[in-house]
Amino acid sequence: MSEIEDLLRADLRGKTPYGAPQLDVPVQLNTNENAYAIPEDVAAVVERHLSQEIRGLNRYPDRDALALRGELAAYLGHGLTTEHVWAANGSNEILQQLLQAFGGPGRTVLGFMPSYSMHPLLARGTGTGFVDAGRGAGYTLDADHVRSAIAEHDPDVVFLVSPNNPTGTALEPEVIDAAHAAARGLVVIDEAYAEFARDPGASALNLLEGRRRLVVTRTMSKAFAFAGARVGYLAADPELVEKLLLVRLPYHLSSLTQAAARGALACAARLQAEVDELKHQRDRIVKNLRAKGLPVADSDANFVLIGGLRDAPAVWRAVLDEGVLIRDVGLPGRLRVTAGTEKETTAFLDAVDTVMQQRPELFEENK
Ligand SMILES: Cc1ncc(COP(=O)(O)O)c(C=O)c1O
Repeated sequence: MSEIEDLLRADLRGKTPYGAPQLDVPVQLNTNENAYAIPEDVAAVVERHLSQEIRGLNRYPDRDALALRGELAAYLGHGLTTEHVWAANGSNEILQQLLQAFGGPGRTVLGFMPSYSMHPLLARGTGTGFVDAGRGAGYTLDADHVRSAIAEHDPDVVFLVSPNNPTGTALEPEVIDAAHAAARGLVVIDEAYAEFARDPGASALNLLEGRRRLVVTRTMSKAFAFAGARVGYLAADPELVEKLLLVRLPYHLSSLTQAAARGALACAARLQAEVDELKHQRDRIVKNLRAKGLPVADSDANFVLIGGLRDAPAVWRAVLDEGVLIRDVGLPGRLRVTAGTEKETTAFLDAVDTVMQQRPELFEENK
C-alpha cells in the first residue's frame, strides 16, 4: 500500500471512481446525454442571460438561488413554489446533499439494483451504508418487493429511480406510495429522465402532497440538453428543503450556472421539440431491435436496454469497431444505447445489422 493510500479513509481504499469511457468516436450513445446541441435561438437567450452576469462576478452569487428555484417550481407546476424546490450542480450533487443531511455514518440507504450506478458511490462518499435489495425477474420492481425490503432493512433513505437507468422502465405510482407508507425515512424518486416518459403526466410530483418524506429529484442534463452546465434540482416539503442548507457549501451554484439555467428554462417549450424527436428515435430503436429478434422492453427514458446477447462485451466492442460507442452496464447479455439524432440512430442500427451478420455467434440462438 502506498503512503497516500495508507492515509485514505479505510472505506475508500482500493476502490475505483465513477468512469464512463469518454472515447473519441464518431457516434457517442453511451452516457444518456441529449443528442442535440443547444439550438441557435436558445443559445442566444442563454448568452444574453450569461452576459448580464459577467460584470457582477466580483460578487458571490445568490446563495439561495431564489430566482432560479422559483422558475424551476413554475416549470414543474403542481402548485410548487420556491420553498419546495432546491437546486445544485447536477442531480448528483442534489443526491449527495440528501445523503449528507439524512444519511451519513451509521445510517443506511436502500436501493434496488440494477439502477443508477452513482447511488452506491454517493452512499460510499458520504459514509452511508448502501443496501441493495435487487429486483424481480426481468429487473421489474413491484410494491410487495419494495415493502418487504423496507421492512427487512429499515433504511433511513430509500432510492427509487423512475424511469430507471439502465432498464428504461417507469414505476407504477402504487410502488412509490407503498414505499412511502412502509418507510420511516426519506423516499427519494430520481426522475432524471421524467420528460422522456411515454406518459409525462405520470411523475411522482403527483404524490408529493401529503407525503412529507417524499422527494423528487430532476435534472436539466437530459431534457434541457444542459449536461455540461450541471444543474439538478428537487421538489419536496419546504421544511426538508430548509434542512439541506445545513450541508450545502456557501455559494455552491455559481452566478453563471444560475443565469444559464434561467435562460434555458425560458426556452423549455422550444427544447421540448428535441425531446419529442428523441422519444421518436428511442421508439424506433425498440421497434427495430425487436424486428431483428432482440428482446427489448419499452422505454420511458432516452435510452434502451438491449437483451438477447450471448456475449455482451464482445458485441459492445464490435459495435465500437463500427464507430458507435454504447454502454456495457455490466449486466449479463445486455447493453444500453442512448437514443441519438436520426442519423446517429441509423448508424447504430446499421452497426448492429453488420455485427449480427458477421458475428451471429455473439447473439442468443432463439433471440
Ligand atoms: C438516474 C440518474 N440520476 C441522476 C443522474 C445524474 O445527472 P446529473 O448529475 O447530470 O443531473 C443520471 C445521469 O446519467 C441518471 O442516470
